[in-house]
Amino acid sequence: MAEKRIEWTEQQKRAIDARGADVLVTASAGTGKTAVLSGRCVDIVSDKSICPDVWSILVLTFTEAAAEQMRCRIAGQLRDAFLENRDAHLRRQLMLLQGAEISTIHSFCKRLITEYFYKLDLDPAFSVIDADEQKLLKMEVLEKTIDRAWEQNGIRDALERLLYRRDLRTNDGFLFRIIELSDFLDGVVSRESWYEKASLLAELTNPFTADLGEKQKKNVAAKLQSILDQLNHVRRLCESEGGDVGWDEKLQDSHVAPVVKCIEMLKAGHWDKCTGAIRNFQKPTTRKAKGLPEPIASLIQSTAKNAVEAFAELSELAIVNPGYLDRLGGSVGPQTAVLVELIKKFDQLYGQAKRAVNCLDFADLEHYALRLLTDEASSEDEPAPSQTALSLRQRYKHIAVDEYQDINAVQQRILEMLSPGGNILGVGDGKQSIYAFRGAMPDIFLEQVKLASSDPGNALVGLRVDLNVNFRSTKGILDFVNDIFSRIMTESFTKIDYDESSRLKPAPADKSKAQAPGGGKNIIEFHILDKIGKSRDSQNEQAGESEDENPDIVTSRQTQAAMIARRIRRMVGVDTGKAEFQVNDEQQGTLRDVEYRDIVVLMRSLAKKANDYVEIFRLAGVPVSCQATAGYFEAT
Ligand SMILES: Nc1ncnc2c1ncn2[C@@H]1O[C@H](COP(=O)(O)OP(=O)(O)O)[C@@H](O)[C@H]1O
Ligand SMILES: [Mg+2]
Repeated sequence: MAEKRIEWTEQQKRAIDARGADVLVTASAGTGKTAVLSGRCVDIVSDKSICPDVWSILVLTFTEAAAEQMRCRIAGQLRDAFLENRDAHLRRQLMLLQGAEISTIHSFCKRLITEYFYKLDLDPAFSVIDADEQKLLKMEVLEKTIDRAWEQNGIRDALERLLYRRDLRTNDGFLFRIIELSDFLDGVVSRESWYEKASLLAELTNPFTADLGEKQKKNVAAKLQSILDQLNHVRRLCESEGGDVGWDEKLQDSHVAPVVKCIEMLKAGHWDKCTGAIRNFQKPTTRKAKGLPEPIASLIQSTAKNAVEAFAELSELAIVNPGYLDRLGGSVGPQTAVLVELIKKFDQLYGQAKRAVNCLDFADLEHYALRLLTDEASSEDEPAPSQTALSLRQRYKHIAVDEYQDINAVQQRILEMLSPGGNILGVGDGKQSIYAFRGAMPDIFLEQVKLASSDPGNALVGLRVDLNVNFRSTKGILDFVNDIFSRIMTESFTKIDYDESSRLKPAPADKSKAQAPGGGKNIIEFHILDKIGKSRDSQNEQAGESEDENPDIVTSRQTQAAMIARRIRRMVGVDTGKAEFQVNDEQQGTLRDVEYRDIVVLMRSLAKKANDYVEIFRLAGVPVSCQATAGYFEAT
């Protein structure tokens, strides 16, 4: 990808120039994180005194495409730097670049374990299993695991209880959770200690006496507070809309006071009294306030009603209910124990199945790499680097990680073994982690960010750099994003506060570029569709059925697709012959009418849904291409 020579912002420069400290760049999409990463690599490589050559840097990404793009970006910037001063060192780096370690974490791990296979007692001819094969193998192993468990006397009774009245469909039923738990453990540093902890939990006769109980109590406290907030909110709303004062007072006695009392009891440490009050609470009727117009009156009534209902429902929580607790104490333990046994057995059989065909999955690549890099004699809590890791520290003088928020605990540990500290650049966005299903934890990134300091004088803990100038979107979009996120992102809710440093600012206007008219204002539209077909969609989806069985019924998805197609036709001016607005043509550097190719439809998930859109767009005469990359299982 050819890029114009970039003029770095002050903040970007800080991240590029800092030396001798780990640098954490935290920012949202489009702020130039990846650009900074490649820029810093080129800066470091240009300086022989700190980096002999481009093979001394290790750049890690999460997808092959990102790795390739990164190599191109670094190549482009290296070329620019070379053209500027025709330096022989830079020319050599350009030639060496193809062999530089710029890859996904998995490819990197694979190369490591292939290089050091003899230290791992591994057959170097292993192959890496692909996602579809892996899924098939896991389903087979799951069946075998359950069959074996039925044959085992010690487990059968508990297994029967565990499976009693559970959904046992093969594809997504309860047993599938075993695979999910095993997948989760792929991202945990030590499976063995997880098994141990889970077994200990199972042995507790009262599971709520431990940490879990404390967490549950905190949940109850948070829930009470949010119910109170909700009630206070409707009271204020009623008052500001000029509703009946008597209603407000009535609400105080019957709705608000019991919740406040519980919160006070909790604060005073009287847990038993609080749970007693919750259990004895009689749900009052919530009347409509007089003197308010519709639909405000109904809205206020239903919000107040929902709040007291949520309060009454708290009594169903196990931790609030001693009777339930007794029953749980007797059955949760054995059920947890058997579940842990099943996972252990599953992991063992799955390991055997992989060994039988000499293949490894992605998680194996990481775990083997970590084993290779960790000193066997060191403890799990204080891991030390192995000799191999120490020699790799000599090889890789600088490490850079893109999309750091997607890192899991095993990968983080690998980094720690590879780095003596002070040579890692991590760039990421705590607001987006796409690999949560693989055990990625934005928490790891957020924790690092929290530890780091924005003060370069305090570089020992790592330098934190926030970027908030956005180079990808116009002001209209950024204002909208700021508006939404500042309301929903709070420390308590998402672990990140959307504070001033998070707010996105548009890049200063580039004079050399043509500006779209209107400066990008008012460009967000909401379209609300009537409910036609909606109930059908949701019913069918919940039951896991396909809508195709009822071809005569127009689903809400199809209605939406038709509406979007109509909107797109208006934008490009199919019927009027005049496009609604103009866009900046990056290649030409001029403004031109918007065309189909400038428009993208994003969906939360492509599976199944995209086909409806494609079909309807085609019927509406809107040319469309779809990037549904469904694997074998999704496509059939
Ligand atoms: N200082 C800058 N001036 C102009 N354009 C920039 C600057 N920094 C980054 N860009 C451009 O902004 C776009 C987004 O950058 P990118 O690094 O992909 O963002 P991120 O990784 O944060 O999503 C790229 O086209 C990049 O070249
Ligand atoms: Mg990026």
